[in-house]
Amino acid sequence: MADMSHSTEDTPSDAGGDAVAVLDMLSGLVIAQTLRALAVLQIPDHLADGALTAEEVAEREGSHPQATYRLMRAASALGVLSYEGNRRFGLTGRGRLLRTGVPGSLRNQVLVQTGHAHWQSWAHFPEAVRQGASQAKEALGADIWEYYARPENAEEAARFAEAMGDMSSVVAQGAVAAFDATGVSTVVDVGGADGHFILALMAADSQLLGQVLDLAHSVEGARQNASKNGLSARFSATAGDFFEEVPPADLYLLKTILHDWDDDQCTTILRNCRSAVNEGGRALVVEMVIGEIGKPDFTSRGDMAMLAMTNGMERDLDEFDALFAASGWRRVRTYPVGAGYFGLELLAV
Ligand SMILES: C[S@@+](CC[C@H](N)C(=O)[O-])C[C@H]1O[C@@H](n2cnc3c(N)ncnc32)[C@H](O)[C@@H]1O
Repeated sequence: MADMSHSTEDTPSDAGGDAVAVLDMLSGLVIAQTLRALAVLQIPDHLADGALTAEEVAEREGSHPQATYRLMRAASALGVLSYEGNRRFGLTGRGRLLRTGVPGSLRNQVLVQTGHAHWQSWAHFPEAVRQGASQAKEALGADIWEYYARPENAEEAARFAEAMGDMSSVVAQGAVAAFDATGVSTVVDVGGADGHFILALMAADSQLLGQVLDLAHSVEGARQNASKNGLSARFSATAGDFFEEVPPADLYLLKTILHDWDDDQCTTILRNCRSAVNEGGRALVVEMVIGEIGKPDFTSRGDMAMLAMTNGMERDLDEFDALFAASGWRRVRTYPVGAGYFGLELLAV
């Protein structure tokens, strides 16, 4: 039998199917911007009370009727909207996740990932691979954290914090269910942004004293959220730099922090936590984890985004364990906490 394992240009094994598959992958950018237009024009919010025609949506939104119809037709082909006939569209489960402010909303994620900072940085992605470093500075004039800290980008930074907070709310439920807080009274959320994660833990345990450590521009949002949730009496927010020092605690939360940084930087953050942790203390790292190589894996796509945007990376469990071992921690438990994230529970050694 002929060896078909090495197809040539003349004898493609399934050129048509492969071409469709590659074109389908390429349309990822179209899909992302379709979701963006739906979110910006708040089409899922317009449909919250029931199906509408594209023309009705266009009138409410002040958008072009035919273009709005085409967008909604494309969204129905993606399963984000349902088609009800006569140019009327409704919301599907996916579409509901693009509504503003609903539990589990991904609208802010869509706006961040397709927004200025991310989109500009992707334009430099091949160079990021060539250099082994994010080209966000080339794209934005500053690395991503400096960019968000600039007063003129405050709105984009707030959107980013909200997007992170939305994911935290989803993941926090899983973490609260899986984490045994026995023996913990003080918790520091390292890089805790708006405080969604730690506030969820505090809401579930009336004894916990919580603190967010983050950059100066982030901590006011955390204080406001604590106040909104009636938790201010047990909460504080500290502006600081986790590369310098972290406050003492029984438990450190590090949710989607390590993936922002290279190995040396992660080791510095983790060592700072190790130096400050109270006797018998723990850390809870919440991250996505790279799966088996060669198999479909959402996290390895996220890893490309980390390379485009930051000097960090997504890691597999061996890579995480190497970081923990280098900084005085040992992973003792691992569990899924929802939305593809894992809790990696660490004990100080
Ligand atoms: C990817 S976000 C994660 C936020 C939060 N842990 C969550 O998952 O919702 C990273 C956070 O680290 C903060 N950050 C970046 N550099 C920092 C530093 N040197 N010291 C303290 N926080 C920092 C950012 O302001 C941002 O809030």
